[in-house]
Amino acid sequence: MSEHLRETHRRRTFAIISHPDAGKTTLTEKLLLFGGAIQMAGSVKGRKAARHATSDWMALEKERGISVTSSVMQFPYEGRIVNLLDTPGHADFGEDTYRVLTAVDSALMVIDVAKGVEERTIKLMEVCRMRDTPIMTFINKLDREGKEPIELLDEIERVLGIQCAPVTWPIGMGQRLKGVVHLLSGEVHLYESGRNFTRQDSTIFASLDDPELEKRIGAQMLADLRDELELVQGASHPFDKAAYLAGRQTPVFFGSAVNNFGVQPLLDFFVEHAPAPRPRATTTREVMPEEENFSGFVFKIQANMDPQHRDRVAFLRICSGRYESGMKALHVRTGKEVKLANALTFMASDREIAEAAWPGDVIGLHNHGTISIGDTFSAGEPLFFTGIPNFAPELFRRARLRDPLKLKQLQKGLAQLSEEGATQFFRPLMSNDLVLGAVGMLQFDVVAYRLKDEYGVDASFEPVQVATARWVKGGTPKKLEEFREKNATNLALDAAGQLVYLAPTRVNLQLTMERWPDLEFAATREHA
Ligand code: G4P
Repeated sequence: MSEHLRETHRRRTFAIISHPDAGKTTLTEKLLLFGGAIQMAGSVKGRKAARHATSDWMALEKERGISVTSSVMQFPYEGRIVNLLDTPGHADFGEDTYRVLTAVDSALMVIDVAKGVEERTIKLMEVCRMRDTPIMTFINKLDREGKEPIELLDEIERVLGIQCAPVTWPIGMGQRLKGVVHLLSGEVHLYESGRNFTRQDSTIFASLDDPELEKRIGAQMLADLRDELELVQGASHPFDKAAYLAGRQTPVFFGSAVNNFGVQPLLDFFVEHAPAPRPRATTTREVMPEEENFSGFVFKIQANMDPQHRDRVAFLRICSGRYESGMKALHVRTGKEVKLANALTFMASDREIAEAAWPGDVIGLHNHGTISIGDTFSAGEPLFFTGIPNFAPELFRRARLRDPLKLKQLQKGLAQLSEEGATQFFRPLMSNDLVLGAVGMLQFDVVAYRLKDEYGVDASFEPVQVATARWVKGGTPKKLEEFREKNATNLALDAAGQLVYLAPTRVNLQLTMERWPDLEFAATREHA
């Protein structure tokens, strides 16, 4: 097998989806522990605190108890290379999460045993559905009392419309938690507290018949377990790899992330069965990861990841070929050939310079404002990857500067932060206002905070009479010019210089669209 195939096939690129508080951060930390990416997993608090120390604007996360950033973590496990793309948890940062989900090959859903399927999980699941992303499920917090496991499987099937195939099954719960049974191997993993910072899972018995097991959990519990397993096997679906890969069935695991329990069976199963890099659709053809020519797309841009360097990083998912430091690639949207030097890889929390990277890997390109979300880089072919979602801003605010001398910094800050895709920045043709569009209210707070922290600009956001925005295209140049003249008061340019109609009301938009039938009013700026 060629090096290219070998490297490609051992990649596993995924994201964790969950409702806030289900345990995504904790599980991430334990997975990194197994991957040897961190020597000893500290407490969630410890890790969060360490993160704050490295990036001061994340103080906002701490104040609000939310995670506003996504990062990429790579670690080796059992001969595979795992890429875990972290997703921000708060609802207002949904767009970012959705785009991350376009860059993965599978997902891991974390569910709180007591809360079951929650609202945000439902939404994220819908996104995975759009691309039939294979999903594994981890039911967390088994060290606490929760819903009956059977009931939970039923809830997942009913609410999320996906078949469940339990791979592990809990022995007890809460105070009575004794372990999990692996339904495919028959192994029994005992639950022993105090193991939360070590790599090994607990004591493992080869099967339910091991006489030692009865001693450990008691005859009654063992008898009950046997009855329950019979019921489970009758009532649930056996693991069917094809159904999993098609996104129709989810293998289910039980455990307690904080106690590092049940995580190893999950990770072992994951690296064995989760898909290697999958083909990606473009406007012209499907790109296979096995192809030797390089291609990839940008799914996320983040400004000022490292306050020391004030840099902006474009995250590119490699879809085919191999990245090598110093190689040349076509930036398809601009038609320019660029040198991809000094890209970053993301080994756990440290950013390193990548020498080489393969399909499924994510590299970070230094961005000086020329790269946008959705951009494709290729070996020369004009490819446009499809399916990277765009979001129409629904809320608009005018930026108000406390110190008018800082206008330049304000413009720069708004433009750079909007490159990340969570907000959109508009400059009206007829005024000196700076208008910001966002999908969620919290984003204005985040932008105000970051303007101050990263650009030294004290700004606030106040209401503005804009109900919705439409990108204006099409028609003849003459028609467009005529439109521009007649509607100048409602027109603005976005950060990329494209013409946008800022409608004061929905009715106004309706009337304007009827008056100008030759023009196209797009709700989002097309990325590709
Ligand atoms: P998130 O990223 O999905 O938002 O969840 P996170 O991992 O931050 O976990 C949310 C809370 O749930 C944390 O408690 C965490 O310790 C707890 N937790 C995670 N896994 C388990 C588990 O298996 N069992 C139990 N009982 N709790 C778990 P917290 O109170 O917010 O923080 P902390 O004070 O415990 O650090």
